[in-house]
Amino acid sequence: MRRLVYLPFQPSPAGLLCDRVNVHSIVEAVGTPAYVYSAEAIRRAYRDIDGAFAEYPHAIHYALKANSTLALLRLLRSLGSRADANSWGEIEVAQRAGFAPSDIVFTGVGKTRDELASAIAHDVGTINAESAGELDRIASIATQQGRVARVALRVNPDIDAKSHPNISTGLKSNKFGVPIQDARAIYAERRHLSGLKFVGVHIHIGSQITSAEPLARAARALVSLARELCADGVALEHVDLGGGLGIGYEGRPLLTPSDYAAAVLPELRQIGIPVVLEPGRAVVGNAGALVSRVVDVKRFPDGRQFAVLDAGMTELMRPALYGSFHRILSLAPRSGDESAWDIVGPICESSDVFARERLLPELRVDDLVAVLDTGAYGAVMASNYNRRFLAPEVLVDNDRFEIIRRRQTLDDVLALES
Ligand code: LLP
Repeated sequence: MRRLVYLPFQPSPAGLLCDRVNVHSIVEAVGTPAYVYSAEAIRRAYRDIDGAFAEYPHAIHYALKANSTLALLRLLRSLGSRADANSWGEIEVAQRAGFAPSDIVFTGVGKTRDELASAIAHDVGTINAESAGELDRIASIATQQGRVARVALRVNPDIDAKSHPNISTGLKSNKFGVPIQDARAIYAERRHLSGLKFVGVHIHIGSQITSAEPLARAARALVSLARELCADGVALEHVDLGGGLGIGYEGRPLLTPSDYAAAVLPELRQIGIPVVLEPGRAVVGNAGALVSRVVDVKRFPDGRQFAVLDAGMTELMRPALYGSFHRILSLAPRSGDESAWDIVGPICESSDVFARERLLPELRVDDLVAVLDTGAYGAVMASNYNRRFLAPEVLVDNDRFEIIRRRQTLDDVLALES
């Protein structure tokens, strides 16, 4: 039976609940805008993925880029997660959250020499190299340090992830990885370098993928390469399928972790080597909401009506950057007909729009709204544009909540300036 996605935000007669906490009480404590996350939703999402792969040796390396607030990382670590970091900053944050360097994979286009040197010096679990040149830099830095770096090569299979073009990474027109047909020679030429130990192969074809077919094709391509490498005598310890599992932004799952596992496990079984998964969005995406207040309402003669929020693209970039859809709930639902609202932010940019012509009950100044499914790529992509201060983050666990990041202040921001 298909499991229903756990929906942490539920309207009740007393107001919107996050698990068993009334969101109004959170707003009283921290104001708006604010990010609110459900620990239970994160636990369930993590366990769903872990459970879907239970029959196959696997390691989940949560992709920090989706949301790396320390409290969430500690929660995920307590569930058994390892980490996928995309910068030295993320590696340091992961370590502060208690992840051992050996439990971290370091991915990312354009790692600097300093980042590589630090990762090698700290014995990071695996460095997923993006090019032959990067492998050579890793080899030379490792040799200088008298160490052996554990590496995998990221391959680009030229597979269309059928996601938004800005978050598709597996086409040959994208900057990521090396063409898959070149990989075998790259391993062969560098296998015997003293500073390198090839432990894996890596692929990541994009994010918010909601059809199984491209994921299965990517797994097939990676497994077929891994078999060739094994035949060449490379002692692979894992194949890394990257992240990319999409979530439902409309309140229902599109591709469940079980669907994902069913698509890739038959391929993996051909080789039997442990798999590394790097999910980000699928772990935290549905767990978060951005709670915001209506600061102005405008009605134009053509009938268009705008609700201007105190949150905008500075708090949540996704709609402006990808035209992404997020459900929006009014926390002050009124009886009467719904009408079409443009829900916009306060930033001086016409792209600062969360939703166009969204059917909602009447909105008034001071009403609260919640922009749902913003646990992933929300808070982490926020900026100080217009000298706005980063919103606080709150973690709800059952009937309690904790402020896991306070609101940024002017002093925090100006501390960097002369
Ligand atoms: N591994 C690698 C190498 C990645 O580049 C990414 C995401 C992940 C794992 C995690 O992917 P996920 O499971 O979250 O799909 N800001 C965009 C998403 C960018 C994703 C970048 N890479 C958005 O808001 O949709």
